[in-house]
Amino acid sequence: MSKIKIAIAGIGNCTSSLVQGIYYYTPERAGEKVPGLMHWEVGGYRPCDIEVVAAFDVDKRKVGKDVNDAIFEKPNCTTVFHRDLPKSGTIVKMGKILDGVSPHMANYDENRTFIVADVEEGTKESIVQELKDSGAEILLNYMPVGSEEAAKFYAECALEAGIGFINNMPVFIASNPEWAKKFEDANLPIVGDDIKAQLGATITHRTLTDLFAKRGVVLDRTYQLNTGGNTDFLNMKNQDRLASKKESKTEAVQAVAGARLADENIHVGPSDYIPWQNDNKVCFLRMEGDLFGGVPMNLELRLSVEDSPNSAGVAIDMIRCCKLALDNNEGGILTAASAYFCKHPPVQFTDDQAYEMTEKFIAERTGLKSAAE
Ligand SMILES: NC(=O)c1ccc[n+]([C@@H]2O[C@H](COP(=O)([O-])OP(=O)(O)OC[C@H]3O[C@@H](n4cnc5c(N)ncnc54)[C@H](O)[C@@H]3O)[C@@H](O)[C@H]2O)c1
Repeated sequence: MSKIKIAIAGIGNCTSSLVQGIYYYTPERAGEKVPGLMHWEVGGYRPCDIEVVAAFDVDKRKVGKDVNDAIFEKPNCTTVFHRDLPKSGTIVKMGKILDGVSPHMANYDENRTFIVADVEEGTKESIVQELKDSGAEILLNYMPVGSEEAAKFYAECALEAGIGFINNMPVFIASNPEWAKKFEDANLPIVGDDIKAQLGATITHRTLTDLFAKRGVVLDRTYQLNTGGNTDFLNMKNQDRLASKKESKTEAVQAVAGARLADENIHVGPSDYIPWQNDNKVCFLRMEGDLFGGVPMNLELRLSVEDSPNSAGVAIDMIRCCKLALDNNEGGILTAASAYFCKHPPVQFTDDQAYEMTEKFIAERTGLKSAAE
C-alpha cells in the first residue's frame, strides 16, 4: 500500500497522540487484540501507512524541531504511550500566528502556556509552497478553540495547495456552506467540524440522549460539565473564544434529542481549567427526565479520560476516509465521515446511522462487505 502523506497545523497534545499512534500500531500488532482502534485497516491502509510530511506551529519549543521530537515538548502534557520514535525528517515550520494565541495565555507559567517563537512568520505563499513540496495530500487543522482567522487561513492554504482538509476543531468550515462549496468546486475532500472523541463526553451524552428518545423518556434538563488541565482548557478560559465550541458541543446533543430542549434547559461546555489534571478530562453529566406516567427520574455520570489519545484513533480513521476519497477522485464534504467522526458536521445523524453510513462509504470504495451489515 502507498503511504498517506499528511500535513498538520498545530503540534499540540492531539498531534502528539496521533503521531505516537502511527508508530505504536506496527504491523506486528495486527494479530493481537488491538486496543483502541475502530478499524485496523481502511481500504488496505493501516495506521503505520500514515506519514507526517509537513508540520506547522508557532511555539518556540516546537518550531525548527523534528516533528517526532516536537510532540514531546512543553506545554504538551498528554500521556506518553510510545516514546521511542525515529527522526521523521520533517521539521516543524513557523506558521502564521493570526488569532491562534489568545492574549490571556501570556499570564501563565511557560511550562503550561504557548510561547511564540521569535522567528519570521510563515506566509500563505511559504506554507502553500511547503505543502506542495512535501507532497502532502491532506492538511489536518488542530488550532486552539477560537482561532477563527487561523483555521480559515489553513483551510485556504489547503485549497491553494490542492489537498484535502480535516478540520478537527470548532471553527465552522465544513459545516459552513460557503466554505464547503470552495472544497466542492476544487474537488477536494473535506471532513469536519470538531473531532468527536472515541469515547468522550459528546458521544456518551449523545448515546444516552438517543436512548432517552428511543425509550420514550422525556428529557427535561441536562448538563455536561468538563474540567481539564491541558492547553486546550487553558485557552478556553477566555470566554470570548468559546462560542463555537459551546455551539458545537450543545448542538451535538440537541441533534439527537427526541424534542429540542429550550436553551435554558441544556448546558454543555468546558467548565474549568485545573492544572494538575493535565490531559485528563473529567466530565460530569446529569440528565433529568420523565418516565411512564410522568414520573421523574435522573441520571448522573462521571467520565474520566485522557483527552488527546481519545481523539487520535478517530483522526486516523478520518485521514483514511479522506484518502479513499482522494483515491477515487471525490471532492467536497464527506457526509458520512463528518457525521460519524465530528461533533458539528454539515448534516447530523444519530451515531448508529453515521456508523452504518461510514462503513458503507468504506466498503463501497474498497469492494468489501460493510462491517455494519
Ligand atoms: N482532545 C480531543 O479529544 C479534542 C476533541 C475535539 C476537538 N479538539 C480540538 O482540537 C484542537 C487541538 O487540541 P490540542 O489539545 O492538540 O490543543 P493544544 O493546545 O495542545 O495544541 C494547539 C497547538 O497549536 C499551536 N498553534 C497556536 N496557534 C497556531 C498557529 N497560528 N499556527 C500554527 N500552530 C499554532 C500551539 O502552539 C499548539 O502547539 C483544539 O481546538 C481542541 O478543542 C480536541
